[in-house]
Amino acid sequence: MLPTIEWQDGAIVMIDQRRLPAAEVWVRCRTAPEVARAIKTMVIRGAPAIGVAAAMGIALAMRRSQATGTRQFATEFQKTCDLMAGTRPTAVNLFWAIERMKRAFAAAVQGGASAGEIRGRLEVEAKAIHDEDVASCRAMGRVGAAFVPDGARILTHCNAGALATAGYGTALGVIRAAAEAGKRVSVLADETRPFLQGARLTAWELVRDGIDTTVITDNMAGALMRQGLVDLVVVGADRIAANGDVANKIGTYSVAVLARAHGIPFYVAAPLSTIDLATPDGAGIPIEERPSREVTHVGPSRLTPEGAKIRNPAFDVTPNEYVSAIFTERGACTPPFGESLRKIVSQD
Ligand code: MRU
Repeated sequence: MLPTIEWQDGAIVMIDQRRLPAAEVWVRCRTAPEVARAIKTMVIRGAPAIGVAAAMGIALAMRRSQATGTRQFATEFQKTCDLMAGTRPTAVNLFWAIERMKRAFAAAVQGGASAGEIRGRLEVEAKAIHDEDVASCRAMGRVGAAFVPDGARILTHCNAGALATAGYGTALGVIRAAAEAGKRVSVLADETRPFLQGARLTAWELVRDGIDTTVITDNMAGALMRQGLVDLVVVGADRIAANGDVANKIGTYSVAVLARAHGIPFYVAAPLSTIDLATPDGAGIPIEERPSREVTHVGPSRLTPEGAKIRNPAFDVTPNEYVSAIFTERGACTPPFGESLRKIVSQD
């Protein structure tokens, strides 16, 4: 399985997703600011992967901390948590992972652990977040695969694969699990402007796995649906509000509306760490606005004239009424999502 991010000899190593598929380059982060920068600049991206990176970054910072007293240690811990929380606002997995690290820290302190022991507990927690994410993806893949008929032609948007998680993927996990179960599947990967996660990353992953993959530009999806060439859509999510509204990569909403217009099921695959019951609906989800250069340029080449204003909202919200089902590691949620999400989250 492709390792997206690894803890290696006191450093965090991640594949540089900005360089794929042209080059497989590994970036080694030795400090928390380096990890925060890697998240912000999309060396690593995808909601669960961002959470794992932040947790590892916090553990790394505390391992390197020179703090002598507990108070100084706690201040540094809080500062690192704040640094990670300031990287990207939309994926709730980031804040979920930071909260987990804070709970581990508080439990260790309350138990009278020494600084050395706290360091150890934080590393264990970060690795647990990593490993649990892979297990969740595999479980959610099996849940979602039951909804995939043999021969399905599946459209996906962005990259919700191994690269966006600790491994295996959410939406691509469903596709992988269906393929592993012996179903014949083929994938239409939306290119996903402006960062091209679909063209570059989804296609790279699926081709490596030997899954039949066709890349299309985002504006082709409707025409292909109308021609009867899409049987279902499955995407990931960055945050799912309590009522089932789904924030995901910009363009997901358009795909969902098109799917509804053509009577095609629209599925979302996401771990429980993506469900945010504290946000009642999509209107409360912060949408990240990314640098205009992602729109004005492809690589070094400028596409747009100087002087044209640019918008680059990185995510959109798909209202719950367009969502057929949400696959989680605990099972599938169906409408009404207010009820089914609350129920699945509270099954702890
Ligand atoms: O801006 P990105 O590349 O971090 O956005 C990623 C997505 O929108 C994914 O679809 C989402 O995080 C789900 S990943 C399993």
